[in-house]
Amino acid sequence: MNETIKHILARQSVREYKDILLTREQLDTLAAAALQAPSGRNSQPIHARFLQNADILAQMQVDFKNIVGWNTPVHTRSDKNPFYHNAPAFAFLFAEGDSLMDAGIMVQNIAVAAQSLGLGTCIVASVGALFADIAAGTKWRAALDIPKDYVFMIGICIGVPDEIPERKTRKQEQIAVLNAYEAC
Ligand SMILES: Cc1cc2nc3c(=O)[nH]c(=O)nc-3n(C[C@H](O)[C@H](O)[C@H](O)COP(=O)(O)O)c2cc1C
Repeated sequence: MNETIKHILARQSVREYKDILLTREQLDTLAAAALQAPSGRNSQPIHARFLQNADILAQMQVDFKNIVGWNTPVHTRSDKNPFYHNAPAFAFLFAEGDSLMDAGIMVQNIAVAAQSLGLGTCIVASVGALFADIAAGTKWRAALDIPKDYVFMIGICIGVPDEIPERKTRKQEQIAVLNAYEAC
């Protein structure tokens, strides 16, 4: 099995991270993987921001919890930090209009690239509540230098894993390789 396949198969969502910063080289590599993502008609609609700043992430988390509630697990098993899971770095992906497909492809590029660097990730949609709120969304879009009409698509936390997550089962019956003679 080649290295790329190994990394794709090994990736799992990580929700506990060591207190270790990513290097500039790691961040630049992840940004390059994001930039190289394909997009429909090569429209390149996604604006991505990689942020490694504990103070700013903590402030965003306060605003996020003020919106969704302090004891509410939001789309996650964890209620202690459902936004960035205490990871040192987070990438925010925005687009003008409906570019979820392009954002999904870019975020998976980041996830697999991070895996290949020995880093863990968790793709995070729930932080969208922060940007859907008019006051907080306007404030943080400006802080991230995102044009005001852009919509949050998806985020991803990135860091050195501090857990080996239980492997999630997959619905094997939903994916099939058809025998050429069986098709149609
Ligand atoms: C579009 C998308 C949104 C997700 N949003 C969240 C989220 O908000 N919070 C979270 O902890 N995990 C989130 N996840 C991670 C999923 O829960 C996880 O990928 C799934 O349970 C499968 O586990 P695995 O990644 O370990 O294979 C999201 C994943 C995807 C693809």
